[in-house]
Amino acid sequence: MEFQQLLERIVQDSITHAKWLNTLSFMENAGARKISKCEHPVSVTLIQLKHAAEEHRHAYYLKKQIGKIDPELCTTYETDELLAPIATRQYLHSLDVKACRYLQTAFNLNKEELKYAAYLFVTYAIEVRADELYPVYQDILTKESSKIMVKSIILEEEGHLEEMINQLNEFSAEWKLHAEKILTIEKELHDLWINAIAEEVSQLDYA
Ligand SMILES: [Fe+2]
Ligand SMILES: [Fe+2]
Repeated sequence: MEFQQLLERIVQDSITHAKWLNTLSFMENAGARKISKCEHPVSVTLIQLKHAAEEHRHAYYLKKQIGKIDPELCTTYETDELLAPIATRQYLHSLDVKACRYLQTAFNLNKEELKYAAYLFVTYAIEVRADELYPVYQDILTKESSKIMVKSIILEEEGHLEEMINQLNEFSAEWKLHAEKILTIEKELHDLWINAIAEEVSQLDYA
């Protein structure tokens, strides 16, 4: 099933749609916490602070959108309130572990440097993904005349990608070569995540 078709199915069913929003909120929150964890306690920059703040806002904003469906739905990140909870929890964690392993070999970094490099490359891959995912989702919401909207997130994610590219340029002249590897790792994990969601959604149809 194509990603767009999958989303079209998801938005048809209120509970599934609420879980999808909650799943995205969970991902944004995990991303935000990851960025905060990578901050150097002293030399953290304005861009990094802005980035963490905006990802936290996305988590909050998506959670609030659920209220437009039903405020009683998905009030926590409990397993039964997420789509494909195992794959969802795994995605960012695996990406981080695999990216760190790659970056350590490629750059031979100390602990603080590795943290920063992981922030740069992992976040870059996530921003590339976000720039693809949210516009497809918004198109479907617009077509359905949904009250739910993710336009403000799209705008900020575009800014993030640009900021990540600027920071990567400063980090290494050869960043693109390494970013390609990280994007390959991300693609594999993203496919696992989406397939797990597709599997769950297709089972719903027969229930
Ligand atoms: Fe975000
Ligand atoms: Fe972002």
